[in-house]
Amino acid sequence: MVGQLFSPPALKRYGPQIIQLVEQLITELATPGLPLSQAKGIQQTQNIPQTKYLNQAQGLPLAPRLRRFAFEVIATVVLGLRGQNLEALFLDFEIWSKGLFALPLAIPGTAFAQALAARGRLLQQLQSLLVEAQQAAARGEPWAAAGLDLLAGGLDEAGLPLSEADLVEQLLLLLFAGYETTASTLSCLMLALLQQPQLLAWLGEELDQLAWPPAADQVAAAYDPTRAPRLDAVVQEVMRYTPPVGGFFRLTTAEVVLDGVLVPAERVVQVALAASNRYANGSESHNLDLFRPQRHLDGGCPANLLPFGAGERVCLGRSLAELEIRLLAVGLLQRLRLELVPGQNLDLQMFPSPTPKAGLLVRLRP
Ligand code: HEM
Repeated sequence: MVGQLFSPPALKRYGPQIIQLVEQLITELATPGLPLSQAKGIQQTQNIPQTKYLNQAQGLPLAPRLRRFAFEVIATVVLGLRGQNLEALFLDFEIWSKGLFALPLAIPGTAFAQALAARGRLLQQLQSLLVEAQQAAARGEPWAAAGLDLLAGGLDEAGLPLSEADLVEQLLLLLFAGYETTASTLSCLMLALLQQPQLLAWLGEELDQLAWPPAADQVAAAYDPTRAPRLDAVVQEVMRYTPPVGGFFRLTTAEVVLDGVLVPAERVVQVALAASNRYANGSESHNLDLFRPQRHLDGGCPANLLPFGAGERVCLGRSLAELEIRLLAVGLLQRLRLELVPGQNLDLQMFPSPTPKAGLLVRLRP
């Protein structure tokens, strides 16, 4: 059922709306003196200093805005959520995701306790949204004409209606899976490019040849690897270098030999992407500790990359993630000449997904 949300016709429908969100972000970043009210709450939850305007010398944190963009794609474009609760929903997701890897001490005031409280509020809000969608569907008026309606009438594998609790959990999972990882990729991509102007110039040669925005009927394919191979290489390298999902688990159903090691059947194997992405397996000359997108074009990547997992449980949102990453990268980099504010802390926080700790302060190049 959830797979339908990411089918090719669905992606075709989402394209123009994602472009609109990219355009909104471009306007927000490019308009001197435009108060950035929406971003206030984000900066508060992330302890990032509040700045109002992009062209102020101290710059503007880009990473929280990329998180907000990715959240809007899954929440509004895919699931069809809307209304004033959206802002509250987003802020609670931010609190929840921040507390996911905190020490599990439910002492009032700790990040973990705040995350538990946020999760409770999230479940409540999602439940009332779902009830609204179900009531509208019963009246024959689809509420959101999007994913929420599909989920509201959802059936399990045996064809029985899913319980309300199951549906709410599904929504929570989809929202979280749908923005945390994509936002991480976008932030790390912008960080890598802005840190290395020669790389940005190399990619810029390709971006200059691409039309922005793409024609409505071309959105899904406009920047695919055949038309934008350098962009594809940069995205692949970002996911190799700073994998948004650190790994996943599999149970062996039969004996298997992994890199010369015999693993018996019925064993849990952890696929640790951060480690395997830099494992050259005898081809050390490729220096996998270096961020070098060109390796994906010149055969310099001996590692087997699985950023979206593999097999039956492969990431359901892969095509959506790839689409929104490409659209945002082309739109933002074509329309704006950004630079990093000097002297900022560019270290990454690694959990739940890699993201610049200090929010990635950027400003317009003079
Ligand atoms: C750069 C972005 C993303 C990355 C790197 C990523 C990565 C992953 C990985 C590694 C898995 C586990 C796969 C496995 O066990 O083989 C996964 C599962 C999943 N992802 Fe993503 N993901 C991304 C974006 C998204 C988006 C936008 C959605 C949309 C909602 C999404 C929805 C899901 C779902 C529902 C699953 C569970 C699939 C299942 O268990 O059958 N992901 N993802």
